[in-house]
Amino acid sequence: MKIRGAPVIGITGAYAVALGALKTDSSDIKKFRNALRGIIEAVAATRPTARNLFFALERMRQVAATAGTAGKTRDVLVAEAQKIHAEEAAATEKISLSGAGLIEDGWTVLTHCNTGPLATSGWGTALGVIIMARQQGKKIDVFVDETRPLLQGARLTAWELQKAGVSFTLVTDSMAGHFISSGRIKCIITGADRIAANGDTANKIGTYTLAVLARENRIPFYIAAPTTTIDRNIKTGRQIPIEERGPEEVTHVRGLSIAPEGVRAANPAFDVTPHGRITAIITEKGIIRPPYTASIKSLF
Ligand code: MRU
Repeated sequence: MKIRGAPVIGITGAYAVALGALKTDSSDIKKFRNALRGIIEAVAATRPTARNLFFALERMRQVAATAGTAGKTRDVLVAEAQKIHAEEAAATEKISLSGAGLIEDGWTVLTHCNTGPLATSGWGTALGVIIMARQQGKKIDVFVDETRPLLQGARLTAWELQKAGVSFTLVTDSMAGHFISSGRIKCIITGADRIAANGDTANKIGTYTLAVLARENRIPFYIAAPTTTIDRNIKTGRQIPIEERGPEEVTHVRGLSIAPEGVRAANPAFDVTPHGRITAIITEKGIIRPPYTASIKSLF
């Protein structure tokens, strides 16, 4: 969790494979390829939900197959990791630019988790949209969910918005409904970890609740994500693997116990928002709307 956020997990996974290859000293191509397979498997086993990791590893696997020697393979792997990094960063600028058009001057928007430069390497996805809208001169106010249990909102999004000079208020996740129903919040925008072919979207736990609140209160609910987050191999969100993390992240806050010893705690790191609750998905190739099965197909 030192490095997290779907796009950065993919970028880092690619660099991890390149670094592993550089440290593999065999010049025998068969032995080298065996070692590389092990490295890719080890990186793939780090986190299961973010599609970007598996997208990046597939690219690394494919490019490795094109080189004839161990030395050449190391070179192409380093170059490919840098290419993936540059592409992901560029995608966030396009997402931010087109998404900013959806945010009106004077709006207060709510966001969840962390989707800024720390999570993406570029502008950010949902946070990039907000920061871009602000930089375009729109007066934007933001409500930032703290994002229990690991507090990505409080620790990371608050820090990034402070640096970007965007006005915001930090709230606990359980306060979101109260502020949304007050009419103050005009839209909700979050990132994504994996989007199924029908538009069902896995994102940080708590996102589904926000989408339901958005529908109940008739405000738009937007997802911002690069197309590398879309997994066309899976039909619906039911097939998205949801990472289950250790219970101590729930029973403890930064090492301090907040529950009686020995209690049972659940800790799914992500939830799935059904496509029917999503107003639009903002990608680097454009903004798509329902029906998502068709509009996602059109992106590719
Ligand atoms: O568990 P994390 O911190 O990796 O989860 C991050 C999120 O859920 C983000 O909202 C998502 O990756 C989108 S990042 C642009």
